[in-house]
Amino acid sequence: MREQGTNSERDVLVTCGLPYANGKAHIGHLRTYIPADIYVRVLRKQGRNPLFVCGSDTHGTPIVINAEKEGLTPKELVEIYHSHFQEIFRKLNISFDYYGSTDSPTNHARTHDIVMRNMNAGYIYPKKVELAYCPVCDRFLPDRYVEGICPHCGAVARGDECDQGCGAHLEPGEIKEPKCKICGNSAEYREQEHFFFRLSAFRDFLLDYLDGVDGTPHAINYAKEWVRRELKDWCITRNLEWGVRFPGRDDLVVYVWVDAPIGYISFTEEWCEGHGEDWKGFWMNGKPIVHFIGLDIVYHHCIFWPSLLKGAGYGLPSAIVASGMVKIEDKTFSKSRGYVVWVEDDYLKNEFDPDVLRYYIASYTSHTKDLNFSWKMFAEKNNQELVASLGNFIHRTLTFAYRNFGAVPNGNIDDEIMEKISKTIDEVIKANERYEFKQYCDLVMALADFGNSYFQKGEPWKKVKEDEARCREIIKGCLQLCKALCILFEPVIPSAMERAFSMMGFDGSDVHRMRFDDALVELESGTKILKPTPLFRRIEDADVKRMENILNERIGKKETKIEITYEDFKKLDIRVGVVKDVERIKGANRLLKLNVDMGDEVRTIVAGIGECYRPDDLIGREVIVVANMRPTKFFGVVSEGMLLAVDDNGTPIIISPERRAGAGKRVK
Ligand code: 2FM
Ligand code: ZN
Repeated sequence: MREQGTNSERDVLVTCGLPYANGKAHIGHLRTYIPADIYVRVLRKQGRNPLFVCGSDTHGTPIVINAEKEGLTPKELVEIYHSHFQEIFRKLNISFDYYGSTDSPTNHARTHDIVMRNMNAGYIYPKKVELAYCPVCDRFLPDRYVEGICPHCGAVARGDECDQGCGAHLEPGEIKEPKCKICGNSAEYREQEHFFFRLSAFRDFLLDYLDGVDGTPHAINYAKEWVRRELKDWCITRNLEWGVRFPGRDDLVVYVWVDAPIGYISFTEEWCEGHGEDWKGFWMNGKPIVHFIGLDIVYHHCIFWPSLLKGAGYGLPSAIVASGMVKIEDKTFSKSRGYVVWVEDDYLKNEFDPDVLRYYIASYTSHTKDLNFSWKMFAEKNNQELVASLGNFIHRTLTFAYRNFGAVPNGNIDDEIMEKISKTIDEVIKANERYEFKQYCDLVMALADFGNSYFQKGEPWKKVKEDEARCREIIKGCLQLCKALCILFEPVIPSAMERAFSMMGFDGSDVHRMRFDDALVELESGTKILKPTPLFRRIEDADVKRMENILNERIGKKETKIEITYEDFKKLDIRVGVVKDVERIKGANRLLKLNVDMGDEVRTIVAGIGECYRPDDLIGREVIVVANMRPTKFFGVVSEGMLLAVDDNGTPIIISPERRAGAGKRVK
């Protein structure tokens, strides 16, 4: 996948949190991968030589449960999503050098090694624990196979996490009133031997480690806080078939959070094997390791993972970079409630440009803050920044140069321009070092804005007639800025900058190999300019509406799926009414005002059926009315109930009893 080939050794390892191969990619995933990809591309532009790896997280109970639901083996299920993620990363230009799988033989072997080393050092020990066991299914119930009551807050929780209440991580055996998720029966607790990782022994080590490790301060500070409070030993085995076998035990696999991060090592190994390099350089001998993760897995990466490495005598990560969370239209991201944007089905299939999403995610807010994805804001940022500022500057410069000179004109470039470029390079490198990708984008966009005002002030369209030599200088300066913008923005919007670079007469794909220093290499006069085409398209209000409707429909569908009890249903007073008379409501073709005999009284009811029913045809008909709706005014008429009708794609069809029932009869 990588666009740059080089022979020198890799000098920094960059990884991204591994996606579970258990569902499709969504914008929440990209919050980690896009900034990490930008970070790596910037390092390459500085002349560094990073190794960028990731892979699918293939184990754990959710995968086993989903595979069972879909009638697949876990292996078949993870293969589907493994390919899906690879495809998405390719389309989004995420330039991993290697994308592996935690189910690889290397990872099974590396996990055994790390577990055995910890065991030999006394950091992994056996202990008998009471575990949820289903007598009907005749099996132990790990993690999500069991549901019950959270011991901390009393909410309904699943075996490994209080996902709907306080959010606490639950250790096996902690959940109260356990029920089997497979058959629904009450589970009992039975004793079994499991293996624990002695996290509590790493307190001092962690406090020291967290003082020195680089990364985003919020992640490190959270972790310190947790370490200071309490470190509980972790049960690291599970009763499952699918996973990495616990050494010496046929009935147990290791907990997915053991073999998942070990994947970072295995992927390094697998890449190194094919490239004649030594993985130990990173994992034993101190070459830097930078982990990009989401805020929800800070505990695992800042506490559990370094301790596991330390216990096994391996090297430690040098930086943990955690992104803030993602919100959708200002609501908490939630797949189950429909607040999600799917990368393939919503974004790519609707033909939005992958670069625009990269830009949005990088530039919306600081990497550590919550990122709100809103289609309206997405369109605004695209139209105002990519189209009106960057796209406009490059397009007007290239168009002017193409029409008037057909090539890069000769002339001296103003010092001011070279100074601006040089200063921007210094500043973006610093922003990248601080993991501030918004700042990175803002700095480069400011260079485009500078270009626009330089062009405007220079008035080349006048000078071309009055002072052609000066006109050539101005346009050459603007072209130099275009070249710099291509190189500086390549890490964020690689495809668009490749297109722009080729319009400037270069081999477009060279932009990925260019270093920042190349932005200061003066353009050669006489290089042919190609006929430019716009780099970005405007996103119109209609596009925004269309995408908002897709989202709203999904949310709506989920909302109507809320379950109610019979007690809830009983609250509705639904009765038969007989229509006495009907009139149209002035100014609202859709609405009819009906007087309906409800048995003991006549109610006025406003119904949105005016376009499909004539008033006279309704008189004498039996209809079904929700009689205890709160009265509501429509066009000045108070409606004292709601008429029930079928929604046939927007056309109402009134519901009536199958034979005459009589006014006032209850519907149950
Ligand atoms: O939370 C998750 O989505 C996990 N699959 C991340 C694993 S990251 C690493 F440790 F492997
Ligand atoms: Zn059961």
